Amino acid sequence: MQPWLNDLLVPTAQALCPNAQGVLDFTGGEQLWSSIDLRMLDDEDWIARNWQLEREHALHQPARQRICEAAISTGGPILEIAAGPGGGNLSPLLHLEPEIKIIVNDLEFRIVERWQHFLGDRYSNVAFAAFDASMIPLKDNSMGCVSSRGGISNCRGDSNAVLSECARVLRPGGLLVLYEMCLSPRTVASLPQVLREAWVVSPWVYGDWGDLLTRHSLALLSEDVAERTTVSPEESALAYDAAQFGVVLEIEFRAVIAVWQTV
Ligand SMILES: C[S@@+](CC[C@H](N)C(=O)[O-])C[C@H]1O[C@@H](n2cnc3c(N)ncnc32)[C@H](O)[C@@H]1O
Repeated sequence: MQPWLNDLLVPTAQALCPNAQGVLDFTGGEQLWSSIDLRMLDDEDWIARNWQLEREHALHQPARQRICEAAISTGGPILEIAAGPGGGNLSPLLHLEPEIKIIVNDLEFRIVERWQHFLGDRYSNVAFAAFDASMIPLKDNSMGCVSSRGGISNCRGDSNAVLSECARVLRPGGLLVLYEMCLSPRTVASLPQVLREAWVVSPWVYGDWGDLLTRHSLALLSEDVAERTTVSPEESALAYDAAQFGVVLEIEFRAVIAVWQTV
């Protein structure tokens, strides 16, 4: 385990030992991913492929590059929540600043373990920890930045609990940087009520996260629509549902930087 991480853990978490590969596991053995999905991930080499793709994406996407630079500018440590097989912003962050302290997180231990295996000891300051982002085992004000690319909006459970934890671990002036997908305002405006009620989705999907952030003392510094595209009914169940009501599903990716302000 990275020695610096031990100092940042809450005392109850410090008492737990890392496993042999140095991945801290606070999940109590919970498994989110099916063995079939994990096998596909391995067979298709998602981790190595995404390491490359995410780096290239950030290089060609100025808004994504900007949020990564903002994350680095905090000096870290950076918590990459719900990193998943894509790694979130991990690849662009480490390509930009190989020495930055980063904690790679996911609720699924076996995903974090795969990242640890893939990166090996290539980067001296990367730590690996499996935990639920709505119960982060880190001390208050211990992080310079919490980062997510498609992670925060896909966290199981209560979005408020996740954001509350992200805010708690940020130090004053610390940044939350996000690259998240949501429905475009045009699509949201044209959604019939029946679909809004039928879709049991997280508040992130509707893209009106300003209020959500403010509730947790996170003030928006910037929000850029970086990409916008339409989804065909063949590509997604939501797009199929929308098409039944004559609505074309348009999605966008937004690059967000928010600062944690003490109240
Ligand atoms: C859609 S995936 C991947 C997003 C990812 N950032 C990427 O770049 O591909 C969402 C991930 O969130 C993880 N996850 C779900 N709920 C979580 C939670 N409460 N805390 C941490 N990770 C969670 C899942 O195990 C999964 O790997």
